[in-house]
Amino acid sequence: MICLHGIIYVGKSKHFGISYLGANMKEKFYITTPIYYPSGKWHIGTCYTTIICDALARYKRMQGYDVFYLTGTDEHGQKIQKVAAAANTEVKTYIDGVVGELKKLWELLDISYDKFIRTTDEEHEKAVQKIFKKLYDKGDIYKSEYEGWYCTPCEAFWTKTQLVDGKCPDCGRSVDLTKEESYFFRLSKYQKRIEKLIEEDKEFLQPTTRQNEMLNNFIRPGLQDLCVSRTSFDWGVKVPFDPKHVVYVWIDALVNYITALGYEGEDDSLFKKYWPADVHMMGKEIIRFHSIIWPAILMALDLPLPKKVYGHGWLMFNNDKMSKSKGNIVDPFILCERYGVDALRYYMLREVPFGQDGNFTNEIFLKLRNSDLANDLGNLVSRVTAMVAQYFDGIIPKPEKEEEVDKSLKAMAEEMYPSVTASMDKMYVPEALECIFKVIQRANKYIDECAPWILAKSEEGKTRLKTVLYNLCETIRMSAVILQPFLTQTPAKIFKKLGIEEGELTSFASLEKFGSDISGRKVDKGEQLFQRIDIEKELKVMDAILDEQKKLAEKNKKEEKKVENVVDIQEITIDDFAKIALKVGKVVECQKVEKADKLLCSKIDLGEGQPRTIVSGIAKYYTPEEMIGKQVIVVTNLKPVKLRGIESQGMVLCASDEEGNLALIAPEKSMKSGSEVR
Ligand code: ME8
Repeated sequence: MICLHGIIYVGKSKHFGISYLGANMKEKFYITTPIYYPSGKWHIGTCYTTIICDALARYKRMQGYDVFYLTGTDEHGQKIQKVAAAANTEVKTYIDGVVGELKKLWELLDISYDKFIRTTDEEHEKAVQKIFKKLYDKGDIYKSEYEGWYCTPCEAFWTKTQLVDGKCPDCGRSVDLTKEESYFFRLSKYQKRIEKLIEEDKEFLQPTTRQNEMLNNFIRPGLQDLCVSRTSFDWGVKVPFDPKHVVYVWIDALVNYITALGYEGEDDSLFKKYWPADVHMMGKEIIRFHSIIWPAILMALDLPLPKKVYGHGWLMFNNDKMSKSKGNIVDPFILCERYGVDALRYYMLREVPFGQDGNFTNEIFLKLRNSDLANDLGNLVSRVTAMVAQYFDGIIPKPEKEEEVDKSLKAMAEEMYPSVTASMDKMYVPEALECIFKVIQRANKYIDECAPWILAKSEEGKTRLKTVLYNLCETIRMSAVILQPFLTQTPAKIFKKLGIEEGELTSFASLEKFGSDISGRKVDKGEQLFQRIDIEKELKVMDAILDEQKKLAEKNKKEEKKVENVVDIQEITIDDFAKIALKVGKVVECQKVEKADKLLCSKIDLGEGQPRTIVSGIAKYYTPEEMIGKQVIVVTNLKPVKLRGIESQGMVLCASDEEGNLALIAPEKSMKSGSEVR
């Protein structure tokens, strides 16, 4: 992993805000990504939070901050247990494989994290237990019984009123009714303090649009105590004083931000140094956990709160959410291999309006790579180094003859650092890059304005040409210096081309004044930074890759179905089974339900005198004519439901398989209607 630690400079200046008297005086900056669920294949959306944080962390390091950048994996919970069970693998072995892939991805993308925490790390698990006990001893955690709805993919609890059409309000998937003895965290106790925090500390939750969302949707309607332990599965940190319970995965996960620093561990020096976090960065779907539950836990632990919680938008693909089941995930390994790591980092940092949803299309990605990286930046560098080689034997000349036209280029280059810093301080990353590329574009225009090829024709012109080429080399150097936090490979290539070694001339301190001492260095024209891409040809290749993925997605869907079936089938007792009244019935009438392709409405004789009306979703498999006279098995004590305005008074049992076949279940020989099935 490449991890460029910035040069620390001493002294005070207008733009370089921080001044140091020594290493001990350095200001700290603690930034975190969420910890990732190791539940599947990694896609470019996954990389978004991490790349943004990486650019911020690198920027701060180069400014001289003492940065701690944390990322990791969130490895407990029902969801992971299910996935591993479906893969027929022991959970930890399964996770180790996926985590290995994630670390490879971060290495590929040059993510300069300082620590990678895994919630299965022993130190973390022990600290979680201590934190749980501390909150219990304090009375902020108590034992009771939970009854409500649980969304396993989101690992989130919901009340009935929070469900949307009976589904998870976050992801729209089915939820399970859960009833179990549980420990609860007194979230309600912190309601007022949380409300005040979001209302009054305008910096805490960003972007500001998220503040009202949290206040109106969750906080003001009233915070309820949170269920913080589970007993229906065991893949988690055990509650130390009641080991049949495991700690709710979100509590386990959130506290990673402090356990990673040694809180409640053997050595808490990092905690003392870096806490509170300066920025917790995450996607918008998990702000609720970070801006409500997390501060409440910290309040209960009497710890300072993070300074900022930032919820960015989602990266969509062709305006659709990326998902394995849709087969539209874009593979970062493939993109980096074909087009370079910097092309992907550039797209993420430049193209997605920060805080809002952004869109990824292969076409925009390739176009942006051609226009900004190959044309603007790549061409500038190759034109300038070629001219230095041609007119001055490859030696960067000393400036001699200044002209009016130089002023605006120099001014823009000098303004670059304060402007980019102002954007980065507000986390306006695309604006920061825009500012740098404006300078690069200005330099290209400067070449056309000065027309070096004409200057080269006369002796007087050649004197002026020295200044022009010096100014261009210096602008390229300054741009490359400030690009380092964003693009991790290209700046080093540019420095090599300009004959500059890593040091003072590659540090942020060198950005303060235009006019560094680069004259006399030998340029090395070398290879193009970015080869131009034949977009049409490449799009065909990308489409073919996507087609392959779509085929795989079909297969994946079946796998996912298997996953759902694995743990959803819970053990029940004979008493539970006895509650279901199954009987043999005979279909006496049957017809299609109007305006409902899938439904048949049958009258079924269950030996009760009057036949019952039962609606079933089997119209694609049986015609009404086929149904009449058939014996079926019916669940007779199911609560009646209205389907398309018809009250259905039971359920007909069928068998179905992954290939989409369906068959009615019938007694092996003819039985009297109403016979019990046991
Ligand atoms: O939520 N666009 O983990 P996670 C942008 N374990 N960001 C995306 C994205 C996309 N298409 N897909 C994923 C979890 N992300 C919990 C966190 S923290 C105490 C526990 C982002 O693996 C997502 O928004 O589902 C989140 O910031 C990160 O990837 C990890 O998501």
